[in-house]
Amino acid sequence: MPRLKINVAGLELSNPTVLASGILGDEASLLRRAAYSGFGAVTTKSFTIEPRKGYKTPIVAKVKAGLINAVGLTNPGYIAIKDIVKNAKVPGVPIVVSLAGSSVDEFHRMAVYADEAGADAVELNLSCPHVKKMGMEIGHDPIYVAKIVGDIKGSITKPLFIKIGLSDNYMDVVGRALDKGADGVTAINTVRGIAIDVYAKRPILSNIYGGLSGPAIHPIATRIIYEIYAEYRASIIGTGGVEDWRDAVEFILAGASAIGIGTSITIRGLGIAKEVVEGIKRYMDNEGFKKLEDMIGYVHKT
Ligand SMILES: Cc1cc2nc3c(=O)[nH]c(=O)nc-3n(C[C@H](O)[C@H](O)[C@H](O)COP(=O)(O)O)c2cc1C
Repeated sequence: MPRLKINVAGLELSNPTVLASGILGDEASLLRRAAYSGFGAVTTKSFTIEPRKGYKTPIVAKVKAGLINAVGLTNPGYIAIKDIVKNAKVPGVPIVVSLAGSSVDEFHRMAVYADEAGADAVELNLSCPHVKKMGMEIGHDPIYVAKIVGDIKGSITKPLFIKIGLSDNYMDVVGRALDKGADGVTAINTVRGIAIDVYAKRPILSNIYGGLSGPAIHPIATRIIYEIYAEYRASIIGTGGVEDWRDAVEFILAGASAIGIGTSITIRGLGIAKEVVEGIKRYMDNEGFKKLEDMIGYVHKT
């Protein structure tokens, strides 16, 4: 589908759909299955320096318009990246390796390792809303984010993405990261929330707080994509509540070059990538768009 090919910050995708981080865990076989099911790229679970068991169950709660999860960054530690990348590789489907460090040095070590292990891109998780000393606790600080990005940028050869979430100053964070050489932005991660069991009369998740994902966050993600594109014309992987081609097209018109899909896979299965791609294609035919690039950020022209 040449019309749907897209270069996102140096990452060549055969179509704009990207498996979002964490949805299928860290098993190479599942990433490979996602790649064969039609995703243009797949993202790994976020890796940390040390292995993490994650939180006690319950770790996921269904809420009205999505999910609240606090998995706790369960992963086998960054040394596993090499095997996972090797075993998950499918020709023509880039692998984005997601990393969650708690310091400049941790991010640096993992990014260099992932780069050498064959990752096609590195994504810094600066936005997980429910793990202490990581994610959003680091990612809300523009100066610190600039330090992390600046430190990694000259040391790896692959495109570097920062993954942001909803915070008061995400525009500043993105601006400084781009200044320091970040190639692209993944927006957004889950949004901190709580679900309460009214009969047990306590929070459902063992961690109390979790990250809200799914349709509930789609308009928030659209706003953030819109603002980042308006200000910086950055390459954006728009993520948050994409359930069908219309949601994906909204992101593209707002400024996204690619579309991350997560929660809806848990409801609709991996076939959603092909459905979204087919839908985008039909939309392009009907609306007279010859190639995807022509659609990116179109609302800013009108
Ligand atoms: C169960 C679950 C686990 C997740 N794990 C990660 C993770 O390890 N790293 C990360 O950057 N994002 C993680 N996310 C966030 C997703 O990648 C995505 O940004 C978010 O869910 C919004 O997209 P969606 O509404 O399509 O799910 C996770 C989301 C869910 C639901």
